[in-house]
Amino acid sequence: MASLPPTEVGDAAAIQRYYRLHSQIYDATRWSFLFGRNAILNEAAKVCSPSRILEVGCGTGKNIVNLCRLFPQAEVTGVDLSETMLNVARRKTTSLGSRVHLLHAAYGPEFQSKHPFDLILFSYALSMFNPGFADAIAAAHRDLAAGGHIAVVDFHDTRLPLFERWMGVNHVRMNGQLRPLLSAQFAARTDQQRNAYGGVWRYLLFVGRKATPV
Ligand SMILES: C[S@@+](CC[C@H](N)C(=O)[O-])C[C@H]1O[C@@H](n2cnc3c(N)ncnc32)[C@H](O)[C@@H]1O
Repeated sequence: MASLPPTEVGDAAAIQRYYRLHSQIYDATRWSFLFGRNAILNEAAKVCSPSRILEVGCGTGKNIVNLCRLFPQAEVTGVDLSETMLNVARRKTTSLGSRVHLLHAAYGPEFQSKHPFDLILFSYALSMFNPGFADAIAAAHRDLAAGGHIAVVDFHDTRLPLFERWMGVNHVRMNGQLRPLLSAQFAARTDQQRNAYGGVWRYLLFVGRKATPV
């Protein structure tokens, strides 16, 4: 892994400021580059039928709505650092009733849940956890029930240093940092890197199972 230029080190306050503006244009713009968000849900559905789902960094709630559709019996919790992103998610999920819970919090070692989850989704969230991505993956391992699954879709890498730097300005780290940690802690069910725009960057789809203790 290459070391990061200083612009790529995000922090909670900077991310909250960033999304104060971007929450207003998020849904209108992100379809054009956050690829694989539907595919990762379909990959997860091939290997599990979760009752309790957590989406970390749920943003404006697109995945929460789709998770409710895909898993009609599930209780779905979304947690996000940005209150403005959550405000959009609240409007979108009101009609889904009491099976959806939205929490304003930073996810990581300090996060406390009342019960373990069967599925934890990170959709374009982990690449913004800098430097906390390893802690967040470890927290997800802790917060999953035995035999539960983690599902991750995110930026993987790029051959273009200028593009990597630009993404860093947008708080995204994409130097292949996630996959080794995921595959070390979870038994892979889906493990793919797909090209975006003919290879300008690659994005990661990973679904893995937490081992059941013997
Ligand atoms: C690129 S958006 C992805 C939103 C959504 N998952 C999607 O796929 O459209 C990343 C989200 O992660 C949230 N986030 C970043 N760091 C976080 C942290 N430490 N804890 C919780 N949420 C965080 C941001 O506020 C933002 O809403």
